[in-house]
Amino acid sequence: MASQNGVSARQITLSHITKTFPGVIANDDVTLTLNVGEVHAILGENGAGKTSLMNVLYGIYHPDQGQILLDGKPVRIDSPKDAIRLGVGLVPQHPMLVRAHTVEENIALSQVTHGGASFWNPTSNIRRRIVELSGRYGLKVDPKAPVWQLSAGEQQRVEILKVLLQGARFLILDEPTSVLTPQEVQELFAVLRRMRQDHGMVIITHKLDEVLDISDQITVLRKGKVTGNTKNENLKKTDLARMMIGEELKETRVAGHPHLRGEMIHLSDAWAMGERGTPALKGVSLSVQGGEILGVAGVAGNGQLELIEVLTGLRPLTRGHIFVKGKDMKGQNAEAFFQSGIAHVPEDRNHYGIVPNMTVEENLILRAMNQNPYSKAGIMDFAAIREHARQNIQKYDIRTPTADTRARLLSGGNVQKLILARELESNPDVLVAAHPTYGLDIGATTQVHQLLLEKRAQGMGIVLVSEDLDELMNLSDRIVVIFAGTFTGTLTRAEFQREKLGLMMAGEA
Ligand SMILES: Nc1ncnc2c1ncn2[C@@H]1O[C@H](COP(=O)(O)OP(=O)(O)OP(=O)(O)O)[C@@H](O)[C@H]1O
Ligand SMILES: [Mg+2]
Repeated sequence: MASQNGVSARQITLSHITKTFPGVIANDDVTLTLNVGEVHAILGENGAGKTSLMNVLYGIYHPDQGQILLDGKPVRIDSPKDAIRLGVGLVPQHPMLVRAHTVEENIALSQVTHGGASFWNPTSNIRRRIVELSGRYGLKVDPKAPVWQLSAGEQQRVEILKVLLQGARFLILDEPTSVLTPQEVQELFAVLRRMRQDHGMVIITHKLDEVLDISDQITVLRKGKVTGNTKNENLKKTDLARMMIGEELKETRVAGHPHLRGEMIHLSDAWAMGERGTPALKGVSLSVQGGEILGVAGVAGNGQLELIEVLTGLRPLTRGHIFVKGKDMKGQNAEAFFQSGIAHVPEDRNHYGIVPNMTVEENLILRAMNQNPYSKAGIMDFAAIREHARQNIQKYDIRTPTADTRARLLSGGNVQKLILARELESNPDVLVAAHPTYGLDIGATTQVHQLLLEKRAQGMGIVLVSEDLDELMNLSDRIVVIFAGTFTGTLTRAEFQREKLGLMMAGEA
């Protein structure tokens, strides 16, 4: 298919790309070719340079060395506008749509701002193209639906449509599955398979199953360099792990009975409103003991976000009670919950987890800034703060050029490690963690799993919200299943069974 811009290229090559930042070589002489007809997976540890490389391809970063070739001819991509003109499109990780507008309004807007389809096109024309492309690639997008009604997966497919309507031949998908449920991942992959006939795609994901499932080519990056490139033929997960970190995969499992330390959180008949102004929690009750890991399983959007916010004081109860170590916390704010011993790893790490413009060091100390030894009689002890940062950067393996680097410059996975470090080091009675291993590479994931088990052994209570059933079954002492704002049951470790959990998550058991 020739795109509307007449771009009919078959191949784009990043040739000998080097990109440095103060203190880091993000990409070191990287060469990678993307062909129409292929899904190309890029694999690598947190901070390996995957996102930086895609930023070069999309014209956000300018390489220090190297060039980009389109069908063998050098081209300049100095801005996203150039990239789009040459047929390169970026599907953002977090959909950036206007929630109050419909799908077609959002798409029309993007065409205007990117100078793609003409400004004077009536929406009816856009609608026709949406229906046509949506049908061809199985995107299942209704042009008239308001965006706020769409699931994360549907919003992502709208973003894909946007990029297609801009005439993209090559699509970049940087961790597109991290916001999706397993079901939605399968839907996305079905779309990518259909698009493959006339597009080339790059996908970045830390989930090895997904790499094996969807990719044709695999390139591995390590510390900015390409350390492997292979066709996806007869490969196993262990092969990928070895290519990536040079070791085998390890699985961490909880063992032994929990040493319970008494009830830390008691939630009874809790009701809370959701974003759409309807009840998101409908009379749920639970108890969290010190020394246990309580898993929360459920398909995203069934009330787990609201549950987490209630447990951390971010969302008020409209009915019911919450006690922390016996103390009634109704009406208290998040700071009071934290002071009572509840720490929080939020789902939306960039909005709630860090202050992006503060340094790594400052972000690490946020929770303890006013405490001894970091502050004495109102005077900050900068040497103590620096030492605290040094120790935690090391302990949690946060890859950052310096402690003074602004947190927003860290790679996605390293932001996640920073948040975990800060929250765990506050030594809470309970850690409420939403997807604590989102965006972490396999090595870091194992490390975090081990850390959570260590903390459990030391008596910390942990509420673990995850969509990864393996993670939940490996780590939890009990799993409670949430569906449509109610709990459909609690299983103890002896009762854990994938099928059973699946049925409960669908509200059918
Ligand atoms: N604008 C920037 N300024 C300074 N350093 C940067 C900038 N962008 C990226 N880096 C650094 O470049 C390195 C590579 O980061 P990149 O985001 O490409 O990693 P990644 O492979 O995508 O990791 P992750 O899996 O965690 O997302 C990191 O050390 C990061 O801190
Ligand atoms: Mg990245």
